Amino acid sequence: MCGIVGYIGTKDAYPIIIKGLKRLEYRGYDSAGVALFNGEQFIASKTKGKVSDLEERAQAENTLKGSMGIGHTRWATHGVPNDVNSHPHFSNSGELVIIHNGIIENYEPLKQELINRGYTFKSDTDTEVLVNLIEDIQRNKGLKLGKAVQVALNQVIGAYAICVMDIKKPNEIVAARLGSPLAIGIGEGEYFVASDASPFIEYTNNAIYLEDEEMAIIRLHKPIKIRKIKSDSEVSPYIQELQLNLEQIEKGGYDHFMLKEIYEQPQVIRDTFRGRLLSDQGLIKMAGIEDNLAKFINAKRIIIVACGTSWHAAQVAEYMIEEFARIPVEVEYASEFRYRNPIIHTDDVVLAISQSGETADTLAAIKLAKEKGAFVFGVCNVVGSSISRETHAGAYTHAGPEIGVASTKAFTTQITVLALIALRLAKAKGTMSQPDYLRNLIELELIPEKVQEALLENDRILEIAHIYKDAANCLFLGRGFNFPVALEGALKLKEISYIHAEGYPAAEMKHGPIALIDENMPVIVIAPQQNHYDKVVSNIQEIKARSGKIIALVSKGDQQVRNLADHIIEMPHSTEALTSIIATIPLQLLSYHVAVLRGTNVDQPRNLAKSVTVE
Ligand code: F6R
Repeated sequence: MCGIVGYIGTKDAYPIIIKGLKRLEYRGYDSAGVALFNGEQFIASKTKGKVSDLEERAQAENTLKGSMGIGHTRWATHGVPNDVNSHPHFSNSGELVIIHNGIIENYEPLKQELINRGYTFKSDTDTEVLVNLIEDIQRNKGLKLGKAVQVALNQVIGAYAICVMDIKKPNEIVAARLGSPLAIGIGEGEYFVASDASPFIEYTNNAIYLEDEEMAIIRLHKPIKIRKIKSDSEVSPYIQELQLNLEQIEKGGYDHFMLKEIYEQPQVIRDTFRGRLLSDQGLIKMAGIEDNLAKFINAKRIIIVACGTSWHAAQVAEYMIEEFARIPVEVEYASEFRYRNPIIHTDDVVLAISQSGETADTLAAIKLAKEKGAFVFGVCNVVGSSISRETHAGAYTHAGPEIGVASTKAFTTQITVLALIALRLAKAKGTMSQPDYLRNLIELELIPEKVQEALLENDRILEIAHIYKDAANCLFLGRGFNFPVALEGALKLKEISYIHAEGYPAAEMKHGPIALIDENMPVIVIAPQQNHYDKVVSNIQEIKARSGKIIALVSKGDQQVRNLADHIIEMPHSTEALTSIIATIPLQLLSYHVAVLRGTNVDQPRNLAKSVTVE
């Protein structure tokens, strides 16, 4: 939520900041702004809308010169998206300027105190309160920027990643984080600050990731100083060499990041099991699991916490772990779990799933589980993210950067990791016959080519998208492992096309949703020739009897459903569990095409942000 960029060096800061903001736009895109120090004063430009709107405005104003600056792309929390609420925000004197990602929860009493002391506020934001609090502390205590920021941060409750500049310190940016990520890029005679490394990857591979409750004093031509905000102790900076490359964060000839990421799935699924799945030896090797195997196999239950799409992957995992390893699994929305005083035992394993590794609710659920003595295992995509650091152990998905706000490759790689875990536990517990176990290993190894085959249905899916693009509602039905896939299909459609969509277990349809079915209702049914096939065929009959329009995902060669459905999309055969990965692909493509045909912003759907660092 919100992307922040800072630059201090010898180059022109404006193009670096604007390019960086475009790369961070997945984090929020309702308004944007930039402030530069031009050698004498701060010059700012900000606007409601996208970074491209900011660019237009800034070009017209043509005043943004300087080699130190900060920029922000916003996902509104306090105050509607408009020019005034956009960041950067200035202090009353105009001497301090700030950008902020996060929420200052106690901003109301702080604001009241500042008003009592004569401060005035232009915006509705919590951020403007923070910058004036820093100014007030500077004035009252005679402190320099770094110290004043530190004192202020010790007074605020909430989450933040901030960059602050002070006109009295023309070669310095102060950055700090708590709960929102912040990376510092170290170039040749220049420093970058950003919510992730993408804004500076073409300039340097060296980065420092600030930890929670750390702040950095970044001065041109001087080493970076990091200290703990609470204890004031100095921290020696740990410089990491980044593996990211520019190609990974560009569209590579696709119209949208989402489409590129859909098509990357064969490769990233393979990357995710490479070195872990040794089917010829009948082995699965995952260090995080091996080191903690006893905890998993002795667990009374596994509680999985996640949000959104990751929660759907958790549901697939529930089916897999219970079926393969016979360990009871409970799946929880992290946001509910953290606030409902859950019963957690020391012999529970809590598994947290998160693409970004920054989701505030999932992070809080992990902290709660740790406090109660549970062993916490993370499945994350972003290396070095807060969740990956907060968990006791974990396994990364190797999806690479996911830039499209709607999650695609993160989901299928999560299922891949979770399948590996479920199979490894089944082997350790002896709950699966050896032939079944080996068959699943071989099938998992074949998934990348089967996903590739599923992608070949793209043209047919585009035709179907043309027919249903104006639908007002849509139902997604699936059973067993494909019930969570139906939920994910519905989420994808609603988030990028804004068509109201619901996912249901197919048999639940007759307990209510069937009332919605008429000749205008498209119903997408996941109907592979597996365990529940006959039951799903009956469900399809029920829809047909009520004139619903049936789009069926079927196993290759299926005849029975072909005769009933209005449209069919074929999928290659696999095991019941792993079909969940294959069935996801056509649903992603369908949502994508419908959204493109409706003219929505596929990569940056309205009101959403990629990384939900507020609760
Ligand atoms: C949907 C989507 C979101 C995320 C959710 C959790 O396409 O992307 O629902 O899945 O915000 O995010 P992570 O996995 O980063 O914790």
